[in-house]
Amino acid sequence: MSGKPLIVAIDGPAGAGKSTVARRVAEALGISYLDTGALYRALAFYLDGRDIPPAESESLSRALEEVSIDIDGEGVHIDGKSVGREIRSPRIDGIVSAYASLPMVRDRLLSLQREQGERRSIVADGRDMATVVFPGADVKIFLPATDEERARRRFKELESRNEPVRFEEVLEQIRQRDRTDSGRQTAPLRKACDAVELPTDGLSIEEVADAILALVRKTSK
Ligand code: DC
Repeated sequence: MSGKPLIVAIDGPAGAGKSTVARRVAEALGISYLDTGALYRALAFYLDGRDIPPAESESLSRALEEVSIDIDGEGVHIDGKSVGREIRSPRIDGIVSAYASLPMVRDRLLSLQREQGERRSIVADGRDMATVVFPGADVKIFLPATDEERARRRFKELESRNEPVRFEEVLEQIRQRDRTDSGRQTAPLRKACDAVELPTDGLSIEEVADAILALVRKTSK
C-alpha cells in the first residue's frame, strides 16, 4: 500500500465483538490492528495499582506525566513493561470506564493513538475512533449488539478462563459500562453521523468482517 495510510475506524459498546472483528479485518487487509481499549485498560491498571482513584487530581496529573506508554505492534508497554491478561480481569472491567471518562486520561492517549494512524495503515477499534481520534478515517463502522448478547459473549469468555462470575453480574457490568461510556462529557460513545451501522446480533465474526471488508474495498476503488 502506498501514499496516505488507510484508516478503518470501528466503534461500539463493550462486548460487541469489535476486537475480534477488527483483528480479522486487519489480517485480511495485511495492515495493523490498534486496540485502543487496551490503552485505557493498561492505564487503569497502572493507576489502580498506584492507588490513584478515577478523579481529576494533582496526583493523577503527575502520574500521567510520569508514565511512559508505548505501542509495539499489538502490545502495550507501560514504563517499558509489557502488559498482558491482567488488563482483562473483572476488576479492570469494573473500573476502566471511570478512568476513561476523565478528560486528563483521554488527552494523555489522544496523540499516541493519532500517531499510529499517521505512520501506517490501521484498523482501530474503540469508542471514539470515528468521532474524535480519526474523524477523517476512510471507513467508519459502528457495531452495536443487544446487552444480553454482549453479556453472553463476555460470560462465555470469562468462563473459558475459569474466572468465577455470575451471568447477572456480567450483564449489570456491561450495562454500567454502557452508561458511563455513553454518558460521559468527553468523547462519549456514539455513532459518527457518517459511520455505517452493522448490528452484530445473530451474525458470525466472519459475516461481520466480510461486510466491513466489502465496505473497505468499495471505498478504495
Ligand atoms: O474495548 P474495551 O472494552 O477493551 O475498552 C475498555 C474501556 O475503555 C471501555 O469501558 C471504554 C474505554 N474506551 C474508551 O473510552 N475509548 C476508547 N477509544 C476505547 C476504550
